[in-house]
Amino acid sequence: MAEKIKLSNVLASEQLPAHQARGVIEERLRSAILDGRLPPGTAVRQQEIADLYGVSRMPVREALRQLEAQSLLKVEMHKGAVVAPLIGEDAVDTYALRVLLESEALRQSIPLLDADDIANARGYIQQLENETSHAEIGRLNRLFHMALYSKASNQKLLRLIENELNEEERFLRFHLSSMGLGKLTQDDHNALVDAAADKLVDEAIRVLEQHLNNGSRVIRNYLDKQLGR
Ligand code: NI
Repeated sequence: MAEKIKLSNVLASEQLPAHQARGVIEERLRSAILDGRLPPGTAVRQQEIADLYGVSRMPVREALRQLEAQSLLKVEMHKGAVVAPLIGEDAVDTYALRVLLESEALRQSIPLLDADDIANARGYIQQLENETSHAEIGRLNRLFHMALYSKASNQKLLRLIENELNEEERFLRFHLSSMGLGKLTQDDHNALVDAAADKLVDEAIRVLEQHLNNGSRVIRNYLDKQLGR
């Protein structure tokens, strides 16, 4: 299964100029992981990628390090880098942690959000309304949330949050069709951006908590069903 997937069957070979190599390789791998062409457990070998793009191993190593920092790859003993597993049994812990991190981001960001930021966030809600591709829904959900956190001063906090959202995005791409989160989440999104626009920090945090708890509950029920419990 996963071991049978060859990178060269998924990624088109192309000759990259050295100065663009790291960024392009990171982006090619990232989208292949996020849309499921490279499933969890797939080995991602430096030399194979270097050969594919006609570059040295150095930019490849840097690209892999970035993807590892985004929780998209993990390094396993004797195996090297592999595509990281999806949110699984630790979904409850993951969502509890996200409530903490994202509440703090709202606290820092909301007072500084301007009309453009709010319009930006509303734009993503609008796009979500019309979107039917599960791959796109996960991406737009991430962009919506990050738009509301974008003015938070703590950059490390923002990176941690983006990692968690990346993980969720991957999970949603694989499982959204069978889960049915549906319109429920859009009501939360609207309430969240309204509270942010009115600078009601406590209200925004309350809605966020409800939004993430709903997500956690739906995912938990879904996984229980998958595991026949
Ligand atoms: Ni959401």
